[in-house]
Amino acid sequence: MPLSTSAERNSFAQDLFTPLPDRYDRLAEILSFGQNGRWRRAMVAQIVPAPGEQVLDVASGTAGVAIQLARRTAARVVGVDLTEQMLRRGRVNVARAGLGGRIGLVAGRAEQLPFPDASFDALTFTYLLRYVDDPQATLAELARVVKPGGRVASLEFYVPPSPPWRAAWWLYTRALLPLGGLATGGREWFTVGRFLGPSISGHYRRYPVSWTEQAWRDAGFTGVGTRPMSLGGGLVMWGTRSGG
Ligand SMILES: C[S@@+](CC[C@H](N)C(=O)[O-])C[C@H]1O[C@@H](n2cnc3c(N)ncnc32)[C@H](O)[C@@H]1O
Repeated sequence: MPLSTSAERNSFAQDLFTPLPDRYDRLAEILSFGQNGRWRRAMVAQIVPAPGEQVLDVASGTAGVAIQLARRTAARVVGVDLTEQMLRRGRVNVARAGLGGRIGLVAGRAEQLPFPDASFDALTFTYLLRYVDDPQATLAELARVVKPGGRVASLEFYVPPSPPWRAAWWLYTRALLPLGGLATGGREWFTVGRFLGPSISGHYRRYPVSWTEQAWRDAGFTGVGTRPMSLGGGLVMWGTRSGG
């Protein structure tokens, strides 16, 4: 993805996600062999807000994480996302879940969040850093809106570290994922299926996990930890906003 500016990255992500919302929730589960839900639960388990506290979910998409946060904690949740069509589907999902009173969804960019400093008690972000031009600056912007002592957790795809699993992952992402996407979701999902594998491996070539851990610390998080999921197909990260 040879995109050089933040604006180009944003419009690439919008073009990619705009046609997806109708089938997103079902296909995200099918194409991850049902692991996406498990990974989300492991991420949400890192967030433990008290009743009345506010959690921000960045790159909220169709609100799957926001809904899980609202169900598993007593917090109020704000979801923010770049793509209006994903949010539109998210609003339907939130209403169906009967959580309209506790979840609000707003349009916005992770690089420049429309919130004052230290306005949230906790924050989650999912599948975000591959879509931004400057992950370090974006992490600093995420840290800006979290109160000192607030918990932050993220979920991203990963490349399995063990060679046999990495070979299987390579085959899956380069061949089965595009074909599975085509068979289950048509042309748009073929495009996503073809994009995902190279996007994930390219991201970790440029930003290895050790780089990302240090980037979290430099952005103002302490106690940074990581947990590979499903033999390394996913990666949950967490930390605490320093200064608490
Ligand atoms: C793979 S989806 C994940 C959605 C949701 N977090 C989930 O787990 O189902 C990635 C989302 O990131 C959003 N996104 C991409 N770049 C973004 C940015 N710079 N700021 C905010 N959202 C962004 C896309 O619009 C898309 O909805």
